[in-house]
Amino acid sequence: MLDAFSAQLPVEIAFGDGVVASLPDVLIRFGVKRPFVVMEEPVAQLDPVVAALAGRPECGRFTKAAGEPTFVQFEACVEALRASGADGIVAIGGGSAIDLARGTRAVVGHDSTCADVLAGRVPPVAPHVPLVAVPTTSGTGADLTGAFVIRTADGRKRAFGHPLLRCQATLVDPLLTLGLPRAPTLHGGVDAAAHCIAACMVTNRSPLSIAIGCEGLRHAAAGLATTVRDGSDLDARRQMSLASLCGGLAINLADCSAEHALAHGLAGLHHLPHGLAVGLMLAECLETNRPARVEELERIADALGHPAGGAGDGRRGIEAVRALLASVAFPVCDAVGVTDDGLQRVVEITLSDYCITTNPVPWGAAEVEDAFRRAISLAGR
Ligand SMILES: NC(=O)c1ccc[n+]([C@@H]2O[C@H](COP(=O)([O-])OP(=O)(O)OC[C@H]3O[C@@H](n4cnc5c(N)ncnc54)[C@H](O)[C@@H]3O)[C@@H](O)[C@H]2O)c1
Ligand SMILES: [Fe+2]
Repeated sequence: MLDAFSAQLPVEIAFGDGVVASLPDVLIRFGVKRPFVVMEEPVAQLDPVVAALAGRPECGRFTKAAGEPTFVQFEACVEALRASGADGIVAIGGGSAIDLARGTRAVVGHDSTCADVLAGRVPPVAPHVPLVAVPTTSGTGADLTGAFVIRTADGRKRAFGHPLLRCQATLVDPLLTLGLPRAPTLHGGVDAAAHCIAACMVTNRSPLSIAIGCEGLRHAAAGLATTVRDGSDLDARRQMSLASLCGGLAINLADCSAEHALAHGLAGLHHLPHGLAVGLMLAECLETNRPARVEELERIADALGHPAGGAGDGRRGIEAVRALLASVAFPVCDAVGVTDDGLQRVVEITLSDYCITTNPVPWGAAEVEDAFRRAISLAGR
């Protein structure tokens, strides 16, 4: 018997070389005459971005500092958006710029603060202006999700998500990613693959999330190693932009699992990029979940192009993920300074994270600690 499921994905998507040039038309279609732009400096200098923005001149801009959004950054962006009188927002950049724009829009026009939204003190309401995203990294899928993440003063990462907070449109243009440096290419690429995998594994997976997750994995397998080795390879960039898009869609149709719960704690405590923390824990979390998701792991192995065979017990899926990580020489914990210092804190944060609630099987402290210890004991990939 097939289980019941439901899905709602209202984001308008355009994918392909040069689609950023359609930004002025998209804004006109959504009735935006005075756009407010959120982006970081390296992205503001990209020629296609400059050209696209010239087609619908901005009424305000927030130049985001590098790194994960903080409350201070949110407050500054909220103030700038309020003062601008904008009737729409354009977020151009990686997950952090899109998150900043999304969180800012969630409070402006509603007389609340980011802290109120994060703490659930105000009910989510329909945003007052449209948001259009132009992702320039290939990884987070933040242009498809309704979530935003904040780094708090105590180093924790806090997230809030609601379907009402999704963008109205995303323009996924692989040409914009050609100059993305190696580290965000590697971390984001593995994050995208992890989203595709999680969407096959979680309790709220569905035939749709599995289909899109497996399609995303096919593209990640085709593009990841090449983009990491040679970021100027356009075809590999296209593959990774599509993997990221599929991953974002897939986790909108489902959710993430233990690898993300563990990564959120780790990234906060050790100041690691999101995708790096996810990749450090990915295979070990799959090992713990394997007995509950044998069929899905076999499909993951097929999607990643792993040779057929094996005992049909799902181990092939984990081997395929380990091979993907090895193909890009993904670091192990020791190489990035992650040890068992602060383990109890990581366990505590992991168990309070939303993503642990959709893990294939319930995890307690013992499972978190076991997966973490196996990850930190790795000497290489
Ligand atoms: N909202 C969500 O659903 C969601 C999901 C996962 C992660 N996140 C968040 O996303 C963030 C990570 O996003 P990310 O991996 O995209 O990295 P990022 O946004 O931090 O960007 C990485 C760096 O690359 C630069 N950059 C981006 N595009 C470039 C380009 N084309 N050329 C040159 N430089 C470029 C940026 O200026 C930045 O310094 C984290 O803050 C994480 O918490 C959000
Ligand atoms: Fe992620």
